[in-house]
Amino acid sequence: MCGIVGYVGRQSAGPILLEGLQRLEYRGYDSSGIAVIDHDGALAVLKRQGKLRDLEASIERMPSGGVGIGHTRWATHGEPSDRNAHPHASSNGDVIVVQNGIVENYRELKAELHDELELAGRDWQSDTDTEVIPELISRELAVGRSIEDALISALSRLRGANAIAAVSRRHPGRIYAARKGSAGGIVIGYGEGEMFIASDLPALLAHTTTVHHLEDGDIATIDADGVTIQGAEREAFRPTPLQVDLDPVAIARGPYRHFMLKEIHEQPRALSDTIRGRARVDPPSALADDLALRDETLRGIERVLVIGMGTSLHAAMIGRWWIEQIAGVPADFDNASEFRFRAPLLGPSTLVVSVTQSGETIDTLGAMSHVRARWGAPQIAITNVDGSEATRMADASILIRCGPEVGVASTKTFAGSLAALYLLACRLGRARGSLSEADFADALEQLLTAPSLVDRGIGQAARCAEIAQRHNSATNFLVLGRGIEYPLAMEAALKCKELSYVHAEGYAAGEMKHGPIALLDGSFPVIALAPRGPLFDKMMSAIQQVRARRAPVIAVGDEGDDELATMVDDFIGVPPAPPLLTPFALTPVIQLLAYHIALSRGLDIDQPRNLAKTVTVE
Ligand code: F6R
Repeated sequence: MCGIVGYVGRQSAGPILLEGLQRLEYRGYDSSGIAVIDHDGALAVLKRQGKLRDLEASIERMPSGGVGIGHTRWATHGEPSDRNAHPHASSNGDVIVVQNGIVENYRELKAELHDELELAGRDWQSDTDTEVIPELISRELAVGRSIEDALISALSRLRGANAIAAVSRRHPGRIYAARKGSAGGIVIGYGEGEMFIASDLPALLAHTTTVHHLEDGDIATIDADGVTIQGAEREAFRPTPLQVDLDPVAIARGPYRHFMLKEIHEQPRALSDTIRGRARVDPPSALADDLALRDETLRGIERVLVIGMGTSLHAAMIGRWWIEQIAGVPADFDNASEFRFRAPLLGPSTLVVSVTQSGETIDTLGAMSHVRARWGAPQIAITNVDGSEATRMADASILIRCGPEVGVASTKTFAGSLAALYLLACRLGRARGSLSEADFADALEQLLTAPSLVDRGIGQAARCAEIAQRHNSATNFLVLGRGIEYPLAMEAALKCKELSYVHAEGYAAGEMKHGPIALLDGSFPVIALAPRGPLFDKMMSAIQQVRARRAPVIAVGDEGDDELATMVDDFIGVPPAPPLLTPFALTPVIQLLAYHIALSRGLDIDQPRNLAKTVTVE
């Protein structure tokens, strides 16, 4: 979603801000801007609708000044435009702010501030909710408050979750940052005689790996020598920074044409890293040292609810399947944005598992806080981001060790989340005694083959490219699967929609004849996920029904399955896998098909239109 950067130090802030924003481009945005202040308090604000290159092209002379903030905006209130792009200034020009999140009560606040503005002969400069923030801060400054107190007071007036960065002409050597709720994080980076801030770590890594994450409620005052933090209920303190070991090279694209392609190819490694040390076969153990939930707690679990959004929801659906099949525990899945506004019947013996690669998805966090406030049920977060809000809210976390995922479409984090869910199912089954030691060892042994299943699936890249090319002008796809492949059919359709902007639906194959079949004709390709497994014969009948309507069939099945291959128009063979492991064999193929359809349509694969990597607004 939106991105924030900031700099204070001896260098010229402008180019550093622009470079930081470039590193956040993957989050998706529709406009961008920077504000730079020099040591005399002279301010330059430059902002533009469109891509960063449009902003750069509009800059005739880079402003001088060693202090500044920058932003990439993804429109929520007010259309994408130059005037709505951040930063936003108070009407007297004293305070300049960028924000991630939403000021839910901005209408009330605008009405409240309206008379003062009118009296001063000024008016709002944008349609955004953000503009009330600098106005509130400057009103507090005008009555003699310190800027920190003005920030605390202004933030206390905002409803919603907000992460902000600010500069003030009255205090030209500093930047300020604050976090309220779960509108994404703010990371402070430490340099030598210079300091950085960003909403995401990747924007800092070229400069420093010494960082501090702001907590909810923190207000940070940052100058070239360090940071002081003040919380609403805390004394001011200077935090002790952390050393992060993310390799800046890992976020470069390397030889791949797109980050998405790179990340698809990184899946075997991401899976090995996620499984490493957590799945042992002799003697069998799963997540032994990783899960801060004791076996006594797990023994008392009578039901599991797995929640998530988008791709993470599809992982949750597969997780539900494993928890039922492997652990023998009743399990459900739910869409976090729906769950959080229902009053479902949970209890202390329900385990809630939240899948969220970013750990910051607002609906998933909302669902987690709903669980905590209402039932106090034990919670586990499965995420790729250590220290993310989800890890702080959960009783225990499973980090999926996939490394930074830059492509907006989730790929390797999907595979990593699957591995974590499978491990959890094994651990739960063993702790509850529903899985015998031999079956436990067998289930773990199977999981150890997942990286190579994915690797062999990736080996079908050329075939996927050829088939995608042939179907790239289709305007619809139906993707069918049954059993554990049904969530994958939904994931395949999601990938087609988000990358290729082609209408695609994922359906349980058994449901097809109850409606969707009416759509089928010769121009409506159907992708059938049909590895040999318990429901293979039922998939074959669905494929026959599709063929009878002359719809072209692209089947993904077991390598060497000639019966299937000869029955369909296009066939992609994946390594035969045990029935519970087919998601690992099929995942790369569905991702590569969507990737190549988008590629052959010439689309922006790493930053699809209207999408954001981390969805921190409702
Ligand atoms: C799709 C995609 C999104 C995310 C969803 C949840 O490729 O990336 O559907 O899966 O926004 O995000 P997380 O996992 O960060 O909670």
